[in-house]
Amino acid sequence: MDLLKPSEKQKLAKTLNVFDLFLLGVGAIIGSGIFVLTGVAAAREAGPALSISFVFAGIVCLFTAFAYAEFSSVIHSAGSAYAYAYRAIGRFAGWITGWCLILAYLLTGAVVSIGWSAYMVDLLKAVGIVVPFQFAHAPSEGGMMNVPAMGIVFLIALLLSKGVKESAWFNHFIVGLKLAVIFLFIFVASRHLNMSNWVPFMPFGWKGVMGGAAFIFFAYLGFDAVSTTAEEAKNPGKDLPLGIIGSLVFCTFLYILVGLLLTGVVSYKNLDVKDPVTYALMQVGERLTASIVSVGALGGITSALLVNMYGQSRIFFAMSRDRFLPPFLEKLHPKFNTPYRIILGSGLIVALLAGFTPIHTVAELTNVGALTAFIMVSVSVLVMRKKNPELIAPFRAPGMPWTGILSILSCFFLIIHLSKTTLIAFAGWLCLGTVLYCFYWNYPARKEPKNIAPL
Ligand code: ALA
Repeated sequence: MDLLKPSEKQKLAKTLNVFDLFLLGVGAIIGSGIFVLTGVAAAREAGPALSISFVFAGIVCLFTAFAYAEFSSVIHSAGSAYAYAYRAIGRFAGWITGWCLILAYLLTGAVVSIGWSAYMVDLLKAVGIVVPFQFAHAPSEGGMMNVPAMGIVFLIALLLSKGVKESAWFNHFIVGLKLAVIFLFIFVASRHLNMSNWVPFMPFGWKGVMGGAAFIFFAYLGFDAVSTTAEEAKNPGKDLPLGIIGSLVFCTFLYILVGLLLTGVVSYKNLDVKDPVTYALMQVGERLTASIVSVGALGGITSALLVNMYGQSRIFFAMSRDRFLPPFLEKLHPKFNTPYRIILGSGLIVALLAGFTPIHTVAELTNVGALTAFIMVSVSVLVMRKKNPELIAPFRAPGMPWTGILSILSCFFLIIHLSKTTLIAFAGWLCLGTVLYCFYWNYPARKEPKNIAPL
């Protein structure tokens, strides 16, 4: 069975090298999670032990990243977790994984753009332009709709429709900017470190640390987006694993440092704000640095949104090619060779979610969707190895099957630390997905696609 055989009718151009992939990973990972959600995670869940939450969530992602890396070195398809589960386990597993990814990607886009809007509104205010409250908040927050959040989603969708190479260059610039401001924060904040802020280190105990990990897990989402570029990578067998694991490990170290400094500069109790990084700097009188960091954060969040929407379009592209989504979506742009119909269609949904929902409601739901997809990827890699012992992947995940099993267990462990409401809503989503599969996607008139390369 030829796993490497391209199974696609429509093919994307190969333009990305290992450096592009690493930066794509960093671009996707660092965004609203670190710049916006860290404050809430510290104030309400983990306290100064936020860095331990980061370590734990980072380890969970690393276990899963190995599985992603092994798959991406074998299956060079844009579908990511969806394609892995489909090929390794079967059609229903593929559909459910894709269904979880649809939830996770659309909501991630919404969370990130709402975070972007918060920083943009602050920045505009600093230069004397006040965005009216009702146009910067969702109805449940007392506003009408979040116009800046919707605007940035439309802009990114247009940029992505133009093509990946241009987007990659834009991404390089903006990732550089965000790394620069994070290092600036680390440098300046370390001069204002007050270790008494770390006492008590775990005000909410281990339960808080784990709850914090389940919440801040959001900050790591995106490393998987690298694997969605498989069809556009020049040397996917070697470069994709390097891009995925490299970007994840790099960001974990940055997050640990930022978590320690943030809670060391101001008391965790005061961090329940939407712009914790600049807030901490303001509290210690670093106004200029705070403004610079604010601009960089805006750039950083933009790049997270860019890569998220990019990955999302590639997964939906693969799903529509397999007839899980309406086939007219798979059409590529005649000039730019991009799946522009998917980009613009999903952009519209993300914009609506961003415009009308509050950030915290959607962040947890995103996590449970992503964690379930991660579990499916690890199960799939174990199944693939069992079914095809002769298959030698260019990258083999170390410590298998234990790393796979640990990934499954640790993702599950994070899931049970999410709120009950989130879990109930997610159960509803899974039921809806199953019903759709039974009553529509498995409808006899819809034939199995002939172009899929099964295991
Ligand atoms: N990890 C990405 C972020 O934090 C989704 O914005």
